[in-house]
Amino acid sequence: MKALELINVVVRFGALRAVDGASLTLAAGERRAVIGPNGAGKTTLFNAITGVLPPTEGRVLINGWDATRASAQARARRGVGRTFQITNLFPELTVAENMRVALRGLTAAKWNPWARDRDAGGIAEALASARLKGVEDSPVKHLSYGAQRQLELAMALVQKPRLLLLDEPAAGLSPAERGAVADIVRALPRDIAMVLIEHDMDLALGLVDSVTVMHEGRVLLEAPPHAIRGNPRVQEVYLGRAA
Ligand SMILES: Nc1ncnc2c1ncn2[C@@H]1O[C@H](COP(=O)(O)OP(=O)(O)OP(=O)(O)O)[C@@H](O)[C@H]1O
Ligand SMILES: [Mg+2]
Repeated sequence: MKALELINVVVRFGALRAVDGASLTLAAGERRAVIGPNGAGKTTLFNAITGVLPPTEGRVLINGWDATRASAQARARRGVGRTFQITNLFPELTVAENMRVALRGLTAAKWNPWARDRDAGGIAEALASARLKGVEDSPVKHLSYGAQRQLELAMALVQKPRLLLLDEPAAGLSPAERGAVADIVRALPRDIAMVLIEHDMDLALGLVDSVTVMHEGRVLLEAPPHAIRGNPRVQEVYLGRAA
């Protein structure tokens, strides 16, 4: 079964077609990078997949389920997890409390980060996957920025996603911190399908099976990682600008 199928997805903001007829298929367990210049529509595409923004046109299928009109909550319950381009944490709460918020986001239970959870083991496991140890009781505002990005990964992982969407998880990090994020992503269970938005080519191409290049809301091309750098169309829209 396909983990994700986007069929001619359009997302409009007024006259702007931020996503302009994008189609994309992700096999079960496939890891895909989505690259492209600023404003290409990458984050908007994620929002259409997660249900933050309903597509104006087109269809979104998640593990074979037609999610086009489903809420973000319903999609999360069906195994869609994500991290955000900008950190999206509660800085005054501890690491453990943030994790409980992430876990409870999936349940119908009243929102209460201090409530006891059944799944303390799941929290420990997700923190370990994100290589965060011994910080459970630290307020998030006391963590380094790198550790905060790792916590965001842990918060997505604790929901046990089947499809994981990572929006620039290494943005703003030092080379060492970027390496840590790469190690975490590489070590994720292979049955989690993943889409990674990432501007750092060296990082992105080393982590994925396939690459989608977006430009002006459209899919410019799809290719294996080794065929990206040398591709003249990619260089024109992306590497040319970045270089
Ligand atoms: N909420 C919004 N309202 C209006 N326009 C928006 C909104 N969100 C995004 N856009 C516009 O849609 C286009 C695509 O934006 P998007 O954030 O998806 O790009 P991106 O590929 O993620 O870029 P970046 O690499 O800079 O993160 C841009 O022109 C952007 O200004
Ligand atoms: Mg973006």
